[in-house]
Amino acid sequence: MNRKRPVDGGVPPAAPSRAGLAALEAETGARLEAAGDLAALAALEAEFLGRRSTFNAWKRMLGGLDEAERRALGEVLNEARRRVVARVEARRAALEGLARAETLEADRLDLTEVLPVPGPGHLHLVTQIREELEDIFLGMGYEIAEGSEVETDWYNFTALNMPPDHPARSGQDSFYVDLGDGESVLLRTHTSPVQIHLLERGELPIYAVMPGLVYRRDTPDASHLPVFHQIEGLVVDSGVTFGDLAGTIGTFTKAVFGASVAARLRPGYFPFTEPSAEFDISCTICGGVGCRTCAGVGWIELGGCGMVHPAVLESSGVDPEAWSGFAFGFGIDRVAIMRHGIEDMRSLVENDVRFLAGF
Ligand code: PHE
Repeated sequence: MNRKRPVDGGVPPAAPSRAGLAALEAETGARLEAAGDLAALAALEAEFLGRRSTFNAWKRMLGGLDEAERRALGEVLNEARRRVVARVEARRAALEGLARAETLEADRLDLTEVLPVPGPGHLHLVTQIREELEDIFLGMGYEIAEGSEVETDWYNFTALNMPPDHPARSGQDSFYVDLGDGESVLLRTHTSPVQIHLLERGELPIYAVMPGLVYRRDTPDASHLPVFHQIEGLVVDSGVTFGDLAGTIGTFTKAVFGASVAARLRPGYFPFTEPSAEFDISCTICGGVGCRTCAGVGWIELGGCGMVHPAVLESSGVDPEAWSGFAFGFGIDRVAIMRHGIEDMRSLVENDVRFLAGF
């Protein structure tokens, strides 16, 4: 009756019988329960149910039995095999549950141990500085205005005297938003578009500061962030002069940094102001002798300013013969690091509570 040796070449299994099946099932059951992990289970599954298993060998041997016996025993064998399959699945589910629980346990982060509990929170340093700047300008009679962070090309560039193809546009590498015509809607690269919104309002005179986030395709370094805060200033009145602008810059830098920090204006160029200047303060990290933060020059550029270009007034419907004004814009994050002697601007956005709690 034993027509073939079992494929595994080991001890040939005895002919299939009910007693043999019961013993086989008991043995597989016990060994499945003992399988300690998924790899051990997979090995047992192959041994019990695979091509070289006793079940398979017995199935083949059924062919040698007479019809009635083959049917009866075949059914018993199939049922026993189904039960073994079910036990393998049950054991697999149990082991997977265990493995998941172990991973969860291993991955658990006990945050209370890693971070000191900082107590009640407070405003982020940059927000504190922004509010302080707002207070200084409110004290000088300015109003606070806000624009939106998503702007059209018109407000961010064209109305500011930067027509398409103007070379100054490439100095402010932009993030465009997938809205409207291609490259027509963008994350504002500066707060100057709020000047246009204020001018369009048609209420003169204007004394306003406009703080907010701006976006540029810049690589972050010790003194640059691709997302940063600016505060824009706009004054439009009759008879406003460059002297008023210089006096205003001097007044607020002294108010923010104290009398020991020097401020200077350098000739500069912006399409929306004429004449234009950039303004710097002496580096508070090194006291002006030169360090990594000020790239060795002793001065830190805070922003730009100038007399509002007549073309800007005109494009917003304001008569440049009757009105004149100045504008300025500077980085609030820069002010924050200069005020507190923070060497690397990136610390402001790394969200390390131990650092932020210090301010
Ligand atoms: N918008 C300019 C910038 O971000 C700064 C600026 C503002 C210059 C207002 C002049 C007048 O570089």
